[in-house]
Amino acid sequence: MEMTLDAPLDMHLHLRDGEMLEIVAPLSAKDFAGGLIMPNLVPPVTDLAMVRAYRKRIEEAMGEAVFKPYMTLFFKADYSPAFLEEAREEILAIKLYPAGITTNSEGGVKGFDLATLSPVLGVMSDLGIPLCVHGESDGFVMDRESEFIPVYERLAGAFPDLKIVMEHVTTAAALGALERHENLYATITLHHLYITLDEVAGGLLRPHLFCKPIAKRPEDRAALREAAFKAHPKVMFGSDSAPHPREAKEAPGCAAGVFTAPVALPALAQLFEAHGALENLQAFVSDNARRIYGIEPPAKKVTLQKTPMRVPAGYGEAVVPMFAGEELAWSVARAG
Ligand code: NCD
Ligand code: ZN
Repeated sequence: MEMTLDAPLDMHLHLRDGEMLEIVAPLSAKDFAGGLIMPNLVPPVTDLAMVRAYRKRIEEAMGEAVFKPYMTLFFKADYSPAFLEEAREEILAIKLYPAGITTNSEGGVKGFDLATLSPVLGVMSDLGIPLCVHGESDGFVMDRESEFIPVYERLAGAFPDLKIVMEHVTTAAALGALERHENLYATITLHHLYITLDEVAGGLLRPHLFCKPIAKRPEDRAALREAAFKAHPKVMFGSDSAPHPREAKEAPGCAAGVFTAPVALPALAQLFEAHGALENLQAFVSDNARRIYGIEPPAKKVTLQKTPMRVPAGYGEAVVPMFAGEELAWSVARAG
């Protein structure tokens, strides 16, 4: 059995920098036609010289593959209107992190005072620059996303023309908010479609499945699966593939992030097929994002076939993917 995807897109992707970028960029570029590149480098991507230089490093690292890096800026409440106007040509979205909530987010937003955020959000709305949000409070870890939903709703209500993407949603409650605000959208990761907190910590602790937001309850996963399998029109695939060096994962203080880029399409095909939803995979991994972001990715066809993929134990010795050492039912046969 085979299926060909037209220009699959990964709308939430961490490519990192330096040696890690060299290892992971070719893997995303091989299977996807484009990706929304997260700006949480050290230091974060906050000006256009940084955007341009990072895009160039990505293009150099990814080799010959057809792949468009859609760039983002790290949200700052003091960006000027003139800066945002110029930025519009170089970026697809701006990513907002609450301060300190996840990897490399220390320079993020403290408190969610609308008066402080409004100048930049108002200009983004006028210019049509979407806002991507890591929506977690600083509360109890299992409740962080649901506690943040009122913030999403306040932002969505105050800026009805601003497209707001709830990144990597993990709860049924977040999906509920999609229905109440026309301008709210969401990405769903591969790992949150597969796992609950049980897979992370219900048996032996599995550091390579530890991420933010933390995987939730079976009923949450069921809601995410339902939205993905029917390719809910406001939902897009965003892997949140977030590689960390092995020693940062297999450590007493384990870094948050699951590295899924090289297994994403085979694992999605396996899951969608198992639930009789293969026909909606195209919309989930490409068409919805094109419509929501108004983008036309480069021409690229990616053919998946039902031939097993043996997932490597690691890539470049340094980084361990989800499903390491396991077999997936599908593999990427060709892309180009
Ligand atoms: C991401 C990372 O490592 O950059 N980690 C994660 O657990 N998802 C950051 C993020 O998206 O929260
Ligand atoms: Zn992320």
